[in-house]
Amino acid sequence: MDHSPPTCKRLPGSIRRLAIALSMVGLVAAGCTQAPAVTSGDAELELGRTIWSQRCATCHAPDGGGGSGPALNNGAANDNFPNIEDQIDLVVRGKNRMPSFATILSEDETRAVVRYTREVLG
Ligand code: HEC
Repeated sequence: MDHSPPTCKRLPGSIRRLAIALSMVGLVAAGCTQAPAVTSGDAELELGRTIWSQRCATCHAPDGGGGSGPALNNGAANDNFPNIEDQIDLVVRGKNRMPSFATILSEDETRAVVRYTREVLG
């Protein structure tokens, strides 16, 4: 019986590195999307982006495209809440399957993330 291992030639290093790099690009393309960057340098919006990524993106998707929670990147926030205070109120109180963030986020953090949904996600 032949016990030699199946032929599995190692690829030359340069090709292996290329393959690894390509698979990483593939991972990113396959859904490891990130919340859109803040380009204005506004520190409060930067804070809002961090909170969005940590607390909201699981349900609303990093880009706000929606998931178990509705999309927020299509003007919905500004359309449904012409007054920002009403949107802050919703995040504080929660609604149906949208959790209340009253005990999780400070007032400043809530305002920051709500501004992020209105001004960056759109
Ligand atoms: C566990 C999932 C979940 C998480 C986490 C979550 N949401 Fe929601 N969100 C929902 C659901 C579901 C709704 C729809 C509520 C309804 O109207 O019945 C919603 C609705 C909303 C709405 C109202 C949308 C509209 O047009 O009426 C806003 C604004 C919102 N979420 C913002 C946030 C923010 C900001 C965070 C993070 C601080 C967050 N959500 C975290 C599930 C979630």
